Amino acid sequence: MRVLVTGGAGYIGSQTAKALARSGHEVIVLDNLVTGHREAVKWGPFVEGDLGDKELLPRVFKEHRIEAVLHFAASLLVGESVKDPQKYFWNNVVNTLVLLDAMKASGVKYIVFSSSAATYGNPEKVPIPEDHPLRPLNPYGESKLCMERAIRWYSVAYGLRGVALRYFNAAGADLDGDLGEEHDPETHLIPLVIKAALGQRPDVEVYGTDYPTPDGTAIRDYIHVVDLADAHVRALEYLVAGGESTELNLGTGQGHSVREVAAGVDKLCGGLVPAKDAPRRAGDAAALVADPTKAKQLLGWYPKYSDLDTIIQSAWKWHSSKSPKTK
Ligand code: NAD
Ligand code: UFG
Repeated sequence: MRVLVTGGAGYIGSQTAKALARSGHEVIVLDNLVTGHREAVKWGPFVEGDLGDKELLPRVFKEHRIEAVLHFAASLLVGESVKDPQKYFWNNVVNTLVLLDAMKASGVKYIVFSSSAATYGNPEKVPIPEDHPLRPLNPYGESKLCMERAIRWYSVAYGLRGVALRYFNAAGADLDGDLGEEHDPETHLIPLVIKAALGQRPDVEVYGTDYPTPDGTAIRDYIHVVDLADAHVRALEYLVAGGESTELNLGTGQGHSVREVAAGVDKLCGGLVPAKDAPRRAGDAAALVADPTKAKQLLGWYPKYSDLDTIIQSAWKWHSSKSPKTK
């Protein structure tokens, strides 16, 4: 199929563009490069432009005869969203509505949407199933939930079909070394720990050591970006085969604490990670772990590379190839 990948110059979008191309799909990337990287667009034509451009989108759909959309483009810093909700509702909601309208006008029926575990808020139980109450703690999570619901209602009224994939913590790098995580500023734990171990940062702060978890630090479900990319290709194929609109968790079902991640980098990469205890980060839940049963059942998807060692080793290889160890 001819697939438009919005945000395809970013971390997860570029990895998915590679997976789509490998599965025989034609990939067209739309990205405004606000956080993405031109050099990460390697598997098809690149349209530099904004999701919210009401004239550009219908043109792109027509020119490239787009048949489906994988929608990654978004703003995604939880803390920033609390300080600047306007940015999040405009980019993640209003601009996504522009995309949905262009799809409707062009008769494009399939969308796979990057949602997030941030839609759940503080979980009542872990692992978290999809029918858990959705109570986002920040505008980022609200904006993702809002678009999940818009896609549902567009499905009912206009025959659109969509899969919202609720990623837990995306991590790791391409196994061939082609792609990896390059956020600026970086806020995610694994790249920060690795950068500290490489001497590119003085240390990494451990946000909260008094959580009700076995070692007192917060627990997350880390999912390898290559496994995420595979799930997107499967979600697209599920829709094309007639699958109903739905929401699916993408995680492993296994959690790791902040200290376990730091110890994993110590063990696998050599050299102690300088870690400094710090207060909890506002808005962080103690533990977020997916129940991935539904994605397994509907998509036949099983994470293959999401054990913590493979995640850390691939991320380490990527970051050290970018800038070698400085200590
Ligand atoms: P990223 O910043 O690397 O990629 C986002 C891409 O979207 C960038 O290339 C950026 O330039 C582009 N973009 C943003 N706004 C745009 C606009 N208005 N028009 C055109 N392009 C635009 O982020 P990522 O980590 O690859 O995240 C991809 C998606 O996955 C996002 O929707 C995010 O909310 C979701 N997600 C990420 C994580 C994670 O752990 N990284 C977890 C849950 C959900
Ligand atoms: N953490 C630290 N020190 C740091 C950075 C993070 O201790 O310097 C901790 C956090 O407090 C958290 C864990 O490491 O407990 C993971 O933090 P990340 O910032 O890597 O990821 P989050 O769990 O906050 O958020 C990520 C994505 C969101 C997504 C969410 C869903 O960034 O987009 O996962 O679980 F919504």
